[in-house]
Amino acid sequence: MTTPTIELKPSSHPLSDAEREQILARPGFGRHFTDHMVTVKWTEGRGWHDAQLVPYAPLSIDPANMTLHYAQTIFEGLKAYRQPDGTVATFRPDANARRFQYSARRLGMPELPVETFIAACDALVTQDKAWVPASGEESLYLRPFMFATEVGLGVKPANEYLFIVIASPAGAYFPGGVKPVSVWLSEEYVRATPGGTGAAKTGGNYAASLVAQAQAAERGCDQVVWLDAIERRWIEEMGGMNLYFVYGNRVVTPELTGSLLPGITRDSLLTIAADLGYEVAEGRISVEDWKAAAEDGSLTEVFACGTAAVITPVGSVKSTRADWTVGDGQPGEVTMKLRKALLDIQTGAGSDTHGWMHPL
Ligand code: PLP
Ligand code: COI
Repeated sequence: MTTPTIELKPSSHPLSDAEREQILARPGFGRHFTDHMVTVKWTEGRGWHDAQLVPYAPLSIDPANMTLHYAQTIFEGLKAYRQPDGTVATFRPDANARRFQYSARRLGMPELPVETFIAACDALVTQDKAWVPASGEESLYLRPFMFATEVGLGVKPANEYLFIVIASPAGAYFPGGVKPVSVWLSEEYVRATPGGTGAAKTGGNYAASLVAQAQAAERGCDQVVWLDAIERRWIEEMGGMNLYFVYGNRVVTPELTGSLLPGITRDSLLTIAADLGYEVAEGRISVEDWKAAAEDGSLTEVFACGTAAVITPVGSVKSTRADWTVGDGQPGEVTMKLRKALLDIQTGAGSDTHGWMHPL
């Protein structure tokens, strides 16, 4: 399938430099959007067409749009970082493009070619380069997504779709900075089931998680940890992040069971941790093992990882059965070393030995 050429229709009213600078001074997460977006259409029998870079603007949606009813929608999240020489590079866009194709297959949607996904992200970041924060950990978060645009109430894969990329300057996802979060083990609600959509990045997974996130907040916790749906025993992941468990020199992350999201940060850290000399494994971790190892001290650190949140330590756990803490309540040494190594690659402070950065 060929990549359509992206037609440029730049905004005649971008925000002024002063307005943009004011937003970049305190970007928050997902609250402000840049001046443009890229849109590409797909129609049955015609394929991908009408790729355009246009001013960021609301969409007009028919009330019988299929997505509003049956949720045929997928998304991605990746970041563009300012490099020390002032240029901009994105982190592993090819990996996001491939996961987007997986999500599309699972939701019965057409697969966007990897090169179109990357070209769309490149076109938007190039046009709105002034929105990439100056340096450091702040970044421009890219949100590619696709949804059904067919109008009708029949339950079936739609015959037309819209792919869009929007961008939002991103400060820290957790405004408190790098400080350990508290987690609630969700035993009542599950996020995903074997054979379900847990490994796809689709809106329904997030909608289904909100009631458990509210339950976590009621118990005074920052985030939910999901368990497997069958035994409610094996640790899967968090609401928008994967998990890592540190046992001294050994780092272990829950294996990909098909019901958790194969995070690109998770995947990158498997490599980075091995580069730094840690023993690395993917495995099964039960709630009982987590508690026992935290209490006997063999489990030294736990952290969550994802594009939006980077790496965030997990300091305490609550569940219906027991509460416990991990480490001494401070960010652990391994957590912070891995965090620095990852951010060094992304921000250009360290060398990109695996060729993960995609310069624009
Ligand atoms: N798990 C879930 C449910 C997520 O939404 C995310 C965020 O994208 C992740 C894990 C981490 O994935 P990644 O590292 O690719 O951002
Ligand atoms: C991401 O890290 O990109 C996420 O998707 C997490 C959340 C904002 C949904």
